[in-house]
Amino acid sequence: MRVLGLESSCDETAAAIVDGGTRVIADVVASQHEVHERYGGVVPELASRAHIRNVVPVVQACLDRAGCTLDAIDGIAVTNAPGLIGALLVGLQTAKALAWVTGKPLVGVHHLEGHLSAVFLEPDPPPMPHLALIVSGGHTSLVRVNDHGRVIELGATRDDAAGEAFDKGAKLLGLGYPGGIVIDKLAQTGDPTAVSFPKAMTASSTGAEFSFSGLKTALLHHVRAHGVPEGQALSDLCASYQAAIVEVLVRKTRRIARKENLTHVQVCGGVAANSELRKQLRAAAAEDELTLYIPAPARCTDNAAMIAAAGYHRLVRGERDSLALDATPNAPLPRSA
Ligand code: KG4
Ligand code: ZN
Repeated sequence: MRVLGLESSCDETAAAIVDGGTRVIADVVASQHEVHERYGGVVPELASRAHIRNVVPVVQACLDRAGCTLDAIDGIAVTNAPGLIGALLVGLQTAKALAWVTGKPLVGVHHLEGHLSAVFLEPDPPPMPHLALIVSGGHTSLVRVNDHGRVIELGATRDDAAGEAFDKGAKLLGLGYPGGIVIDKLAQTGDPTAVSFPKAMTASSTGAEFSFSGLKTALLHHVRAHGVPEGQALSDLCASYQAAIVEVLVRKTRRIARKENLTHVQVCGGVAANSELRKQLRAAAAEDELTLYIPAPARCTDNAAMIAAAGYHRLVRGERDSLALDATPNAPLPRSA
């Protein structure tokens, strides 16, 4: 079954065609980073307008790359939650129009269900059940994945997401947007022990919950006291800030894997592209005898192949959405054991 996926929940306009939920036939992502860079974050109205400009060319480029027409598609999957409302609506209305003119079945996909499905596009996907650490710009959570579409959230962030901590930290340091990539790069030549930052919610009593807003405040105080450094000192500050985020994520993941008795762990979402997080998780997995699964960096950040993969499982289960399907900007990950 060939599924056309569409994704437009934030600042990437993406279309992909995936066969059988695992084989990527075409995958096109148009990023809007240059649109938002000067503002240090995503400007919702500008995102919606860029999606409108990009969505039809992106779908066309995807079909061209696949060398097929819409006739060869068996179903259409689209991100309809959560995200920026105006941005979501562009992909959703496009998907509905395509479903209407072709008569093909339509399914809405929760963005995080999409992130959880990205790893199934890799050659060696995790078995069920497994533990998932979802780390994106808007979400940070630990989730028990019993099967496709059957997940239980064990804990999430109480305030900022890990990606948000990277983005807000980078903005504070005048490093542009998206911050994660810039901090990741600068940190590679920095000393992670140079500055001590708080590692919140690491006591075992805090379960699977996270908190990153105190870290951002600690960086603000540091910058107020010492200014924004340059050269090696900037790399040291980035490495220290990144180390605090990574340490919390790794410690929590190890602890919850042990507690839930899950030995297979996947990590997904934009922050899973972070080189230090990948390195430290690999080392922790080796120590704790966990098997770790992380998608290729381009499949960690937003893309439509993951939406098509998640949509495939919904379609196979016989799920269909009508053309009345709406966008829900704040919908939590559907809980189902
Ligand atoms: O999953 P994603 O593409 O979009 C959302 O669903 O939010 O994640 C975007 C987030 C941004 O906060 C971005 O700074 C972060 O992922 N990110 C990274 C890296 N690449 C992207 N954070 C740390 N290191 C990276 N290499
Ligand atoms: Zn995402």
